[in-house]
Amino acid sequence: MKTTVEETLLSAIRTIPDYPKPGILFRDITTLLGNARAFRRAVDELVHPYAGTKIDKIAGIEARGFILGGAIAHQLSAGFIPIRKKGKLPHDTVRVAYSLEYGVDEMEMHRDAVQPGEKVILVDDLIATGGTAGGACRLLTQMGADIVAACFVIDLPDLGGRAKLEALGVEVRTLIAYE
Ligand code: PRP
Ligand code: ADE
Repeated sequence: MKTTVEETLLSAIRTIPDYPKPGILFRDITTLLGNARAFRRAVDELVHPYAGTKIDKIAGIEARGFILGGAIAHQLSAGFIPIRKKGKLPHDTVRVAYSLEYGVDEMEMHRDAVQPGEKVILVDDLIATGGTAGGACRLLTQMGADIVAACFVIDLPDLGGRAKLEALGVEVRTLIAYE
């Protein structure tokens, strides 16, 4: 029997209780990445709506957004922008503080990574509170990017991130949800 994309992805993702803190159910995509069929299906499904449209750049959020974002950039013949935790990028950066499900941090992007008006898709593995993706959208918007969409494999809708990004006017695309 043919499995749906949702079934393929759900069965390929592993859940680790109490990581990195007690009470967190950590959705671990390393098992999905190690499964050739599931990895391919996730990338194909995220790319599909944008095939044939001009996307200048994919912005991937460290760390897991780099893996998915790199594959998506290749498929769409787009450039790639790394959005990194503070202190990791060598040239002039813009920086933003953000909070997430289990802490606070700061992230950066090179000032010259995007030109005003360029069409950018933001990519990460998962959206929870939306703190991380919201911070990344602030960096991209500050540098004049046109954010076409924000794409994630996993949505944790109870934490409100999707609604938060949509309220900012960002189109959000996710493949599976854990309620
Ligand atoms: C995870 C995930 C997202 C973020 C989502 O990354 O990959 O980037 O949390 O949470 P939010 O919607 O509440 O902001 P994490 O901060 O664990 O960093 P890592 O990828 O470097 O492990
Ligand atoms: N980032 C924020 N919450 C997460 C979770 N529950 N699993 C994996 N990554 C996360």
